[in-house]
Amino acid sequence: MAEKPSVTGKERFFQPEEIIVSKTDLKGRLTYANRTFIDLSGYTESECLGQQHNLIRHPDMPRAIFNLLWETIQDGREIFAYVVNRSKNGDHYWVYAHVTPSRDMDGNIVGYHSNRRVPDRDILNNHILPLYERLLRIERDPANRKEGLAASRAELQRVLDEAGKKYDEFIMTVGQGKRRGYRDAGPRNAAA
Ligand SMILES: Cc1cc2nc3c(=O)[nH]c(=O)nc-3n(C[C@H](O)[C@H](O)[C@H](O)COP(=O)(O)O)c2cc1C
Repeated sequence: MAEKPSVTGKERFFQPEEIIVSKTDLKGRLTYANRTFIDLSGYTESECLGQQHNLIRHPDMPRAIFNLLWETIQDGREIFAYVVNRSKNGDHYWVYAHVTPSRDMDGNIVGYHSNRRVPDRDILNNHILPLYERLLRIERDPANRKEGLAASRAELQRVLDEAGKKYDEFIMTVGQGKRRGYRDAGPRNAAA
């Protein structure tokens, strides 16, 4: 088994107006990374390009999420996901990612594209971290060595069923009560 990548436990942050962008070919090899990607990952452009996107994979990301990500984009659909990435020196940074297929003029998928923004901390702490911890516990259980991914996907599905939502809807509405409360208190509503 591959050696577990080292981590420092130190978090890196970026600004709300910044977007981390990368593009890949059909196999997930990096074909483009913008300046913000380079800065946060700690890799140079030449260290990134041509490498598999798992170059920045953090060991605390559940396999189930990437499995769902690939299933979705290979099916031609977009996906949103909270992702923790690992910088070259082992630091980490959380993002809210939007991953989409890129198509040619005939509609064929020719690669993939991801834009990432600063995640909402409350959603991360209250909804995503507990979910990912549950998935990781299942994936890391030695009893699940072979079936870990399937068991973790089943758990994710169980959580979605419990919430009565599909993944897309779940991820778009998680923490919505808080946001609605914020909007309701805003000046636009007061004027209505
Ligand atoms: C456009 C695109 C963007 C991706 N962005 C990330 C990312 O930011 N971090 C990450 O760990 N994996 C990302 N992935 C998923 C990786 O390709 C890979 O599935 C993941 O790192 C898990 O790697 P592993 O299966 O080798 O464990 C991305 C994939 C695509 C197609």
